[in-house]
Amino acid sequence: MSPDLFSLQDKVILLTGGAGLYGRGLAAMLAQTGAKIVLAARDVAKLQVVADEETAKGHHVFAESLDQGDEASVVALHERITARFGPLHGLVNNAVLRPMKGANGAVEQFAESMRVNATGVMLMHRHFGAAMAEAGRGSIVNIGSIQGIIGPSYELYEGTNMGDMPPDYWFHKGGMVNLTRFYAALYGPKSVRVNCLAPGGFFNHQPESFLKRYCEHTMLNRMADETDLGGAVIFLLSDASRYITGVNLPVDGGYTAK
Ligand SMILES: NC(=O)c1ccc[n+]([C@@H]2O[C@H](COP(=O)([O-])OP(=O)(O)OC[C@H]3O[C@@H](n4cnc5c(N)ncnc54)[C@H](O)[C@@H]3O)[C@@H](O)[C@H]2O)c1
Repeated sequence: MSPDLFSLQDKVILLTGGAGLYGRGLAAMLAQTGAKIVLAARDVAKLQVVADEETAKGHHVFAESLDQGDEASVVALHERITARFGPLHGLVNNAVLRPMKGANGAVEQFAESMRVNATGVMLMHRHFGAAMAEAGRGSIVNIGSIQGIIGPSYELYEGTNMGDMPPDYWFHKGGMVNLTRFYAALYGPKSVRVNCLAPGGFFNHQPESFLKRYCEHTMLNRMADETDLGGAVIFLLSDASRYITGVNLPVDGGYTAK
């Protein structure tokens, strides 16, 4: 297989939420491919810091503003990207809003989550996907979660203050898996592929008791770091995966295989 199959050189890739835990690592790894990376989230100043750090390394990374739950904002971003960089080749839906606090969090928090994480994700597929379909090529990678495949493992959190988990996350991460299949089927005839990745937990200095139990539950005996997701994203964005669409691939150190 030619190594060029993995190339994203000069491609235009939109990554939502490029300053967060997973997003910062994705921004760095995607930037190294030689693609033009557009980061988009509500806090542009935070993204500009990332863009400046990557630009200083000689990469092409730009910051744009987006409220994913607002259709006008999604459409405006699409117009700005097309005008400034030309047609988009790849979209990574990484952004997530976590407004709901616990199993009994307010209904308004659930609704706010759906605005961004359900309606918003659909809008990203609708507007950016349609443009890719019109161009006759493109790849969308959705960042899901192992929590879109399995239910909460309450036993991992015993003795910590992390155990009160919100239902919205399981709802929209589970929904993302089948939304991926919907758009893979819709856009497939236009050579636009849509896939989902299901990352495991990211190491973020969690309590020792949780870390021990979580790591033992994986096959690789560790949590994820900022370098673990990028390879799978690059693979799914590139021609190396040209016959792969509609899948949900765990990137979880074996967590869901056990
Ligand atoms: N952190 C983990 O352990 C973990 C595990 C599995 C999957 N994931 C998934 O990985 C992805 C990244 O997670 P993370 O932990 O890095 O998240 P994070 O909270 O660190 O970052 C989320 C990003 O989304 C952006 N965002 C929030 N609301 C937005 C909106 N309305 N419009 C545009 N952008 C918005 C934020 O600005 C932020 O940059 C998410 O999809 C998450 O579900 C994370």
